[in-house]
Amino acid sequence: MTGSRVRIAVADAPAAGEVRLVELDSHTIGLYRVGDRYYAVADRCPHRGAPLCSAGRVVRGITLEHGNPTRGAALGLLRCPWHKWDFDIATGRCLVQPRLRVRRYRVEHDGDDLIITLQHPAPEAAAASEPDRLALTP
Ligand code: FES
Repeated sequence: MTGSRVRIAVADAPAAGEVRLVELDSHTIGLYRVGDRYYAVADRCPHRGAPLCSAGRVVRGITLEHGNPTRGAALGLLRCPWHKWDFDIATGRCLVQPRLRVRRYRVEHDGDDLIITLQHPAPEAAAASEPDRLALTP
């Protein structure tokens, strides 16, 4: 780790449903994999400040297809340990209070490594998410 960035080998990155915690300039950040993409979010719930990454857990969402609930393929939601609200890992959006978002950080590929910085993620990172998932425990 140097300065305001952390380098992690893709081989050491978390699998879907797991988290890898990193420290960056006094920020604790959770690194997640959803599908084939990586996302970094703050270890602080925007509701009441719970340790969202270090004590929360990844859960699977459901979607409505033609009015029928369908279990999502991706482990794409992060459940807060205190009040059990779910957050979309890709967008940071809270599914209970959509005006709340967890702080996200930029993750970029550099060869066989991932680089995490304190910058906001690139816009296309959020566009890849599924915006209307509901929570369902895996
Ligand atoms: S502190 Fe996270 S949902 Fe309340």
